[in-house]
Amino acid sequence: MALGKIPRFSPSFSPREALTVMHRLARPGDEDTRVRSFEEAFAARIGTRHGIMVPSARYGLVLLVRALGFQPGDEVIVPALTFFAVPAVLLAEGLRVVPADTGLRTHVLDPEAFERAITPRTRAVIPTHLFGTPCDMGRIREIADRHDLKVIEDTAQATGASFRGRAVGSFGHVAYYTFGLTKNMTTLSGAMVTTDDDAVAEHVRAAVASGRPAPLEKSVKEAITGSAMMVATHPWVYPFTVHPVIVLGNRLGKDPIHERFGEAERRYDTIPEAWIDARPRGVQAAVGLRQLERLDRLNGARAANGRRLDEALADVPGLEVPEYPEGAEPIYLSFVVHHDRREDLAAALRRRGVDTTIGYMANISDHSLFPEIRNPDACPNAARAFHRLLHLPVHPNLTPRDLDHMVEAVRSACREIAT
Ligand SMILES: Cc1ncc(COP(=O)(O)O)c(C=O)c1O
Repeated sequence: MALGKIPRFSPSFSPREALTVMHRLARPGDEDTRVRSFEEAFAARIGTRHGIMVPSARYGLVLLVRALGFQPGDEVIVPALTFFAVPAVLLAEGLRVVPADTGLRTHVLDPEAFERAITPRTRAVIPTHLFGTPCDMGRIREIADRHDLKVIEDTAQATGASFRGRAVGSFGHVAYYTFGLTKNMTTLSGAMVTTDDDAVAEHVRAAVASGRPAPLEKSVKEAITGSAMMVATHPWVYPFTVHPVIVLGNRLGKDPIHERFGEAERRYDTIPEAWIDARPRGVQAAVGLRQLERLDRLNGARAANGRRLDEALADVPGLEVPEYPEGAEPIYLSFVVHHDRREDLAAALRRRGVDTTIGYMANISDHSLFPEIRNPDACPNAARAFHRLLHLPVHPNLTPRDLDHMVEAVRSACREIAT
C-alpha cells in the first residue's frame, strides 16, 4: 500500500505469466498436448477423473446439461443470488429455472430451501460456491441423492476451496469453473468442466473438439489487460492514476471499473459469440499450468486476509460480516459485508482511500431479465443481501498494513455514517 490507497481487486497474474504468454505465442508447440496437460493437472488437483477446458463456464454449463440428457421443461434449482448468465443459459436451453433461497450471510444455497423447491419435475440442482464460500455439500448431496437429482457444482468463484477437507467441484456429478482475470486463478479467459462420468466427459470433449480454435487475439488482449491491471494496481501507480479516476467517476455518478467489469456484462447476449464453440489454446493452458502451481499459495493469502477481517470487523456497529456453512473452507474471492446504508459506507470508505464494489451478482427471483420466474417474496434472504451487500478488498496483494488501515477505515466510516 502507498498513501493509504487500497484497490478493490488486484489480478492474480504475474510478470512471469506475461512472459509465458509471449514465449507461447512465439513458439506455440503442440497445442492439444499442452491443453491436455493442464486438464489433467487440474482434474488431479480437484480430485476428479476428467477435466475438459471450455471457452467459458456458461458454455460449459450448456454442454453439461446437454450431456446429462435434460429435456425441455425439466426443472433445475438455482440459488437466487447468483450470476445472471446461469439462469439465462438454462432458460435458453428450454429448461425451467426454480430459484431457491440462500443463507442470509453465507450467500450460498440454503439446503432446506433447496429441499422445499423440489418438485416431481426437478432434475438437478446447482450449488454455487459464491464469493469463494463452499456450500454445505454434505447436506446438499444427501438431499439430491434422496431425490435422485444431479448435482452441478458452480465453482466459478471458488477454484481450490474445500468442504471438510475435500475440494469443491468433486462433490457433484459435474462442475464448472471459470478463469477470467478477476477470478482467483486465470487462464486469460477460458474455463473448465470436471466430472467422474466418462460419458459426460466424452460428450463435452467431442463438442469442444469440433469448435474452431479460439482467436489468439483474445488471449493477447487479455494478457495486455492483465498486465495493465498489474501495473495499475501497483502501490506506486494506483494512488496517482486509478484512485483519482474512481473518485472523480463516482462524483460524476458513474463507477468506471463497475462500468467496465460489471455493467458491461449485462449488455451481453447470454453467451458472447467468442465464448461459444471455441477450442481453448495452448497459450491459455500454459498460463493455467503456471497458475495452478501458485493456486494454494494465493488462496491461502486470501483466506488469511479474510479471516483477519472476519475477526477484526465482527463487532462494528451497523456492519454484518459474512458467515460460512459448518465444514466450509472458503477462499474469500470476495469479502462481502452487509450494511443498511451501503452507498454511504462505500463513499465514506472511498474518502479514506479504500475502494469497494457492489459487484454484479443478482437476485434472479426478482430480475427484469427473467419475468418468467419472478416472485419477489420467494427468496427473502437473497433479496435482503442483494440490497445491502458490499465487497471489501481481500486480494492476496494486501499487506498487513493495508489490512490494519482497512479495519480502521471501516470502523471510522461506520461511526461517521451512524451520526
Ligand atoms: C457464479 C458464476 N457462475 C458462472 C459464471 C460464468 O462464467 P463465464 O463468464 O466463464 O461464462 C460466473 C462468471 O463470473 C460466475 O461468477
